Amino acid sequence: MSTLVEQLEALGREATAALAEAKTTPETEAWYSEYLGRKGKMTGLLRGLGQLPAEERPAVGKAANEIKVALEAVLQERQAALAQAEMEAALAAEGIDVTMPGRRPQMGKLHPTNQTLREACTILTHMGFQIFDSAEVETDELNFELLNFPPDHPARDMQDTFFTTKKDVILRTHTSPGQIHAMRQYAPEPIRVILPGKVYRKEDVTARSEMMFYQIEGLAVGRNITFSDLKGTLLNFANQMYGDGRKSRFRKSYFPFTEPSVEVDVDCILCGGKGCRVCKYSGWLEILGAGMVHPIVLKNGGYDPTVYSGFAFGMGIERQAMLKRGVDDIRYFYSNDVRFLERL
Ligand code: PHE
Repeated sequence: MSTLVEQLEALGREATAALAEAKTTPETEAWYSEYLGRKGKMTGLLRGLGQLPAEERPAVGKAANEIKVALEAVLQERQAALAQAEMEAALAAEGIDVTMPGRRPQMGKLHPTNQTLREACTILTHMGFQIFDSAEVETDELNFELLNFPPDHPARDMQDTFFTTKKDVILRTHTSPGQIHAMRQYAPEPIRVILPGKVYRKEDVTARSEMMFYQIEGLAVGRNITFSDLKGTLLNFANQMYGDGRKSRFRKSYFPFTEPSVEVDVDCILCGGKGCRVCKYSGWLEILGAGMVHPIVLKNGGYDPTVYSGFAFGMGIERQAMLKRGVDDIRYFYSNDVRFLERL
């Protein structure tokens, strides 16, 4: 049987090997209790000291002390090394690498409707039209009656209306009531204004129509304004907006507030004129209504129709955004799908 000193030496070697396995500071603390603590293995072995003859005890005590001191030194070294490694790891984890490429801030951009609206406004303001602001909530009188839609006039059916709970107060179905506001503000001065804004119609939502959309109204009033001025203005607009090569056509039409009235179509870019659901299989997409301001409307605006004449037009913006940007369904515009908004 081995002597107590031999057992102590064996324990020293075991403890040294075990300490090398400790990977964290708490593990070294557990190691300390296991070998050197009050209830540890070293204390356990030294309990046998009492059974030894008195003359052998000092040698054993000395050996035990040396082993303990040696183990404590190794422990200190190990703990210092671990503390260093743990600090380095923490620094590396929290540290900022200033050589890494930065993260690009996400840039917002204008909604495709707004982009198109601004393009159209830019072309028109460069022609000399001024922007005139006009409200989205109107009276029946301004939206219809003063524009020569008598009550019960069948042309009211062209524009199904959202009513409010207040009698005769409605959401404007077109930007044309702005014509009256502008004329009443400026008469008898000549006018050249555009009115961009939202309009509302109680329509079935389909690939080509929404309940809310944007229009730009245009109005020119003066002493010698003719249909040629209207035609020149609109052809010039279409050429700038869609490029000189694009086909457009004037088609006779009817609006109560203009006489004569026309509609302007641009050949459908979505199908190249072959016909699709957006152009209702006609190959053409209507972008605006226009005409010479009706004498009754001039009079309602404060102009003498025997002296003054004028032209007006009203263009839909989403239709044009579809044409210019190749969108085949108007519902994309206000469904807030970021994939759509990012693409355009
Ligand atoms: N207000 C008409 C519409 O919304 C368009 C239009 C405006 C027609 C001006 C002629 C003159 O359909």
